Amino acid sequence: MLCKLRALMQVSLLGMLCYILIYMLFSRRIHSDINVLRSSNINQDLIEFRPFKNQEINCKKIVEGDENEIKKFVERKPDNIPTNETLVKHTQNCSFFRRIYGYDAVLNTEEEKQFPIAFNILLYKEVEQVEILLRIIYRPQNYYCLHIDGFSPDHVHRAAKSLADCFNNVFIVSKTEKIVYESFQRLQADINCMSDHLDNPNWKYLINLPSQEYPIKSNAEIVQILKLLNDTNYTECIIGTGRLNIRYKFKYKNVYEPNGTYRIVKTNERYKDPPHRMVVVKGSAYGVFTRRFVDYVINTKLARDLLEWCRGVLSPDEYYWSTLNHNPHLHVPGSYKVKCPTTFLLSTYVIWYPMKCPGKFLRFVCIFGITSLSKLAKRKELFVNKFELEYSYPALYCLSEFLRNKSLSRPRIDEKFYKQLYFNQTNIV
Ligand SMILES: *[C@@H]1O[C@H](CO)[C@@H](O)[C@H](O)[C@H]1NC(C)=O
Ligand SMILES: *[C@@H]1O[C@H](CO)[C@@H](O)[C@H](O)[C@H]1NC(C)=O
Ligand SMILES: *[C@@H]1O[C@H](CO)[C@@H](O)[C@H](O)[C@H]1NC(C)=O
Ligand SMILES: *[C@@H]1O[C@H](CO)[C@@H](O)[C@H](O)[C@H]1NC(C)=O
Ligand SMILES: *[C@@H]1O[C@H](CO)[C@@H](O)[C@H](O)[C@H]1NC(C)=O
Ligand SMILES: *[C@@H]1O[C@H](CO)[C@@H](O)[C@H](O)[C@H]1NC(C)=O
Ligand SMILES: *[C@@H]1O[C@H](CO)[C@@H](O)[C@H](O)[C@H]1NC(C)=O
Repeated sequence: MLCKLRALMQVSLLGMLCYILIYMLFSRRIHSDINVLRSSNINQDLIEFRPFKNQEINCKKIVEGDENEIKKFVERKPDNIPTNETLVKHTQNCSFFRRIYGYDAVLNTEEEKQFPIAFNILLYKEVEQVEILLRIIYRPQNYYCLHIDGFSPDHVHRAAKSLADCFNNVFIVSKTEKIVYESFQRLQADINCMSDHLDNPNWKYLINLPSQEYPIKSNAEIVQILKLLNDTNYTECIIGTGRLNIRYKFKYKNVYEPNGTYRIVKTNERYKDPPHRMVVVKGSAYGVFTRRFVDYVINTKLARDLLEWCRGVLSPDEYYWSTLNHNPHLHVPGSYKVKCPTTFLLSTYVIWYPMKCPGKFLRFVCIFGITSLSKLAKRKELFVNKFELEYSYPALYCLSEFLRNKSLSRPRIDEKFYKQLYFNQTNIV
């Protein structure tokens, strides 16, 4: 009997030692997990936004690509969509709004808190869709600049203002541009937001978004991916004929109407070369930018000279960032040491006509719906462009459930892939 007891005690002592060792090794991880779970249990019913909850749809099946579940919802007109009326009504009481819409119950790890991100969001009319976007990317440590088009109706400006007024880290840009398609003003709008963001401390990266984008990575994943870029900028680049040099070989100008609108007109005048012997590189209007880069854009003569040159170019937002980042002789902070390493666009997945679109085309850009979710869920980009509130509501609804689940389960990112993005751009080949 005594012998047995002693043996038992030895075993349990050994077990306890092991436990203490494992606990010491993993306690930090375990603690943060418990905190995440605890906050989620308390607020489980608030995490999915009740007023607009879609009771019937099985998002897990949709994300897995279950044909039957997709078929059930693909033709059905979704009900229960947020509107500008509900937004304006609910934002009258900010504490109510933040609580019921889940803003006060976001899952936020220590790693995310230590890595604030600044966002630019450009919108024309879709303020209620911007709220859906904000709801998923919102973290108290991040900053959000809303640029509402100078041509937008007053009620859009008012709704956006009442949304921004519910947060101290969401603000309306201090200078508004009137934007037409392919105009210089589209680029200037992003610059205005960037300039405002420089007044906010501590953020590490800035991401610019149009109103109809939606993420496919959780904020925690975005943070991990950006960290792997090691404080470098990441923008797409296209050289050669894909640059569409007609857009800058001739001068373009704005022609104003008496009522204040304007058109962009191509002249027959050959346009001057870019300043400082820069080589023009085409890319995307969207990217992820380091704080040093944003500071460079706003505060250096070289960047401002290129911006001035952009006034005579068609769609200059597709040239400005890429040109700054792919001219190694300029030594722009965080820019590429190689001329044009990749055409992979990290910030945004977009399908242009005539590529195959699993949703529907709207002005040459693919609008995604629930049929594409299983593919989108596996992609490496951070965001997808674009979704249309009415057509894509079930897709947005399911993506948000997918992302919130990822915030909880925290799957590992494909480190090898994202490390290679950094490696490819910083090493001279
Ligand atoms: C998210 O997690 C909940 C709870 O585990 C589960 O019921 C749901 O099916 C999951 N949704 C998706 C899209 O995976
Ligand atoms: C909602 O939008 C419509 C036009 O789409 C507008 O007429 C109406 O005034 C807006 N309502 C609010 C509360 O902003
Ligand atoms: C705002 O909503 C809260 C509930 O979240 C309620 O307690 C409070 O009375 C409301 N305030 C106003 C001014 O209606
Ligand atoms: C990140 O950048 C710093 C400074 O340029 C460099 O010293 C470091 O080696 C880089 N890290 C990796 C993993 O390449
Ligand atoms: C302004 O004038 C132009 C040209 O006359 C016209 O095409 C456009 O619709 C007008 N816009 C508004 C808002 O009145
Ligand atoms: C990022 O852009 C800035 C400004 O253009 C440039 O100075 C810097 O070198 C870029 N960073 C990298 C890693 O290429
Ligand atoms: C990085 O470079 C390697 C080797 O050149 C290439 O195989 C790979 O596709 C590149 N990655 C990206 C994302 O461009």
